Formats: sequence, C-alpha cells, structure tokens
Amino acid sequence: MKLKRILKWSARGILLALILAFLVGFIAYWRSTNECDRNTGVPANPMKAIVYCEYGSPDVLKFEDVEKPVPNDNQVLIKVRAASLNAFDVYLIRDSWLGRLIFGLRKPRDTRLGQDIAGQVEAVGKNVTQFKPGDEVFGICRGALAEYACASERALIMKPPNVPFEQAASLPLAGLTALQGLREGKIQPGQKVLINGATGGVGTFAVQIAKSFGAEVTAVCSTRNVDLVRSIGADHVIDYTKEDFTKSDQRYDVIFDNVCNHSFTERRRVLTPKGICVLAGMGGAGVKGSEAIGRIAGNLFTARGLSSFTDQKFAQYRTKSSKQDLIMLGDLIQAGKLRPVVERTYKLNDAPEALRYLNEGHARGKIVIAVE
Ligand SMILES: NC(=O)c1ccc[n+]([C@@H]2O[C@H](COP(=O)([O-])OP(=O)(O)OC[C@H]3O[C@@H](n4cnc5c(N)ncnc54)[C@H](OP(=O)(O)O)[C@@H]3O)[C@@H](O)[C@H]2O)c1
Repeated sequence: MKLKRILKWSARGILLALILAFLVGFIAYWRSTNECDRNTGVPANPMKAIVYCEYGSPDVLKFEDVEKPVPNDNQVLIKVRAASLNAFDVYLIRDSWLGRLIFGLRKPRDTRLGQDIAGQVEAVGKNVTQFKPGDEVFGICRGALAEYACASERALIMKPPNVPFEQAASLPLAGLTALQGLREGKIQPGQKVLINGATGGVGTFAVQIAKSFGAEVTAVCSTRNVDLVRSIGADHVIDYTKEDFTKSDQRYDVIFDNVCNHSFTERRRVLTPKGICVLAGMGGAGVKGSEAIGRIAGNLFTARGLSSFTDQKFAQYRTKSSKQDLIMLGDLIQAGKLRPVVERTYKLNDAPEALRYLNEGHARGKIVIAVE
C-alpha cells in the first residue's frame, strides 16, 4: 500500500518536472533574441560589419551598417586591417541542436562573427596600460569581421613590425590550437610526430611548430598538397588518397589529429607504447550533420573512456586565449621559424564566399579577410 503511494507521488513529481522543464524551455526559446530584432533604426555611429541574424549556411551572413563598438574599461578599440576565418566561425552559424543549446535557442545571441584580428589601436579603456592609440596589434576578439572591433587587453599583443597585417591575423586561433595541442602531446626533440590534416589552418602551423620543437614530422595530406607540406618543413609526407597511415609499420610518439577519421584501435596501432594522440579536431573540418556529431561523440568516448585503461593516451583539449603563447608565436614568426600560409584573401563584403570555401573542408592554410 505504502509502495503504491510512493510510486504514485513519484510519477506525479516526474510529470510536474517535465511540464516545468517544457515551460522553461518554451519561454527560453521565445525570449532568445538578438541585436537584429532590437535595432531597427539607423545606427548613430555606423560602421560596416558582417552579421548573422539566423542560423544556417554562409548565405545567412549579411554585410551591413551597424553601431561602431565602444570599448569597456579593460578593452581596446581596434581599427581592423585584417581578420581570418576558422572552423569555429562555421560552427557558430551552423544550425544544429547542440549549437542552439550553446549559442542561443531560437536565434544566435551574438550576431558578430570572426575571432582573429590584426589592426591599429584607435582608443583604449581607462584600465588599459599596455597599448595606446596608433599601436599595431593582433590577437583574439569577438566580431573581427568588421571595420572596428573591441578586444580585451589580455588577448592582444603588439604586431611584429616586419609581419604584414594579413599574416598576423592568420595566426591567433589556429596557431594557439597547434601550439597548445602539441604541448598536450608532450612533444620532445627527436620524437616522431604525425600531423593528420597537415595542410589546413591548424595543420600548417602544427607542422612548423613541431619542427621548431625539433621533432621529426610526418604530414598527412591529399596529393595536391604534397609540395606545400614539404615546403613548410615536413620530413615525410603520406598522401591519404593513396595510403592509410594507420596501416603502416611506422610508430609515432605523437599523433596530432585534425581530422579524427580513424578508430581508436587503428590509431593505437601506430602509436608507440606510451604515445599520445592529440584530438585537435574532433569532428573534422568540412564534416557536417550526424557524421560530425558521431565523430565528436566517438572521440570524446575514446579520450575520456577507453584511453584511461591504456598507456597510450588520447588527449582532448580546448584552445585557450593566452598572451604568453601569442608572444611565443610572434617570436617564432620573427625568427623565421613560422611562416603563415595564406591561401586566399577576400574583401570584407565577400566574407560569405570566404566562409563557403572554408566550409568545404579543403582550405590550404588560412583564409584571410582584408579590411580596407
Ligand atoms: N581543439 C580546439 O580547441 C580547436 C580549435 C580550433 C580548431 N579546431 C579543429 O581543428 C580542425 C582543423 O581545423 P582547421 O582550421 O585546420 O581546418 P581547415 O583549415 O578547414 O583544414 C582542413 C584540412 O583538413 C584536411 N583534410 C580533409 N580531409 C582529410 C583527410 N581525410 N585526411 C587528412 N586530411 C584531411 C584538408 O586537406 P586536403 O585538402 O589535403 O584534404 C584541409 O587542409 C577542425 O576540426 C577544427 O574544428 C579545434
């Protein structure tokens, strides 16, 4: 009798919780709005920018007049000279349930796009001590695809004078991803390192940074990119259209995996007994929909679950904005050990076309937007 009553009340409790969750979700969905809904008038202090009001393909990007941003006390206002695109920009606009949960249920909360920036300081907030108007800087911000953008002082460094704005803008997110990922792999001089997906934004930096650490680098790419990876220092090249690296007899201390298109067992086969596979791109560039979700889930399971039972580790990480690491990358460029590969440069109003190209998943190096 007592058990029956407990079951009855539990069922009512669950039903009530479900109704509440549904109501909260419904309200959150309809309250989720963005700048495009709020601003219908003409901007008082206009600038040109790329904005996206809805989720979707790169076709949703608009080149519009928007309000020029104002820096807060800890920010720097930058006149953008160049920006570069990343796989993250594609994920931000893509219509997926995971994206909606993170970036806004009904519409994207933030309508600005672009993380990598290089430009000239126009104004600084009152707490900013390291920069002054006129300084040439580069780093990470939100909304780099615009004539002006604000960035935190902590996410910027001075641009080396001999490095053009386009090259500086190509460096931050992809360079940090390569550097921090190789550190996750505990890279050491003389080690054998394989870079899968060696010719995209992250891969071209990873090859060169691994070489600067003194590693012996094997690059995996398609036929058309063999010469490119050799030109940036790869010691060995595997053309994935002709050969599967997981079937070779070679063993690697570190696999830096931008593509993650092989299974746990396949990758373990070519790792040394204590080797580390760094999962940089868990979904893989250009992979969409359920295939991307499947790869991400599989690689998370591999990193967090399976690899905890083996000596060979699968490391998953998220790129962090780090001034120290940006300085290190800037120094590598100045020392001539890092040469950004910029495949194409587009004008700001052509950003949708640029993102469409990146979305195909076969960019050679970085795609840059030059802002005039
Ligand atoms: N962990 C993080 O926090 C973090 C941060 C930034 C980026 N990422 C991830 O890192 C990955 C790479 O980013 P990215 O900016 O370098 O992308 P990208 O510039 O679009 O480059 C994609 C590259 O993948 C190569 N590729 C495609 N299919 C391949 C295959 N089957 N085998 C080997 N290579 C293949 C392509 O070369 P071919 O043309 O020769 O096929 C292309 O050069 C993405 O998945 C991105 O999401 C992660």
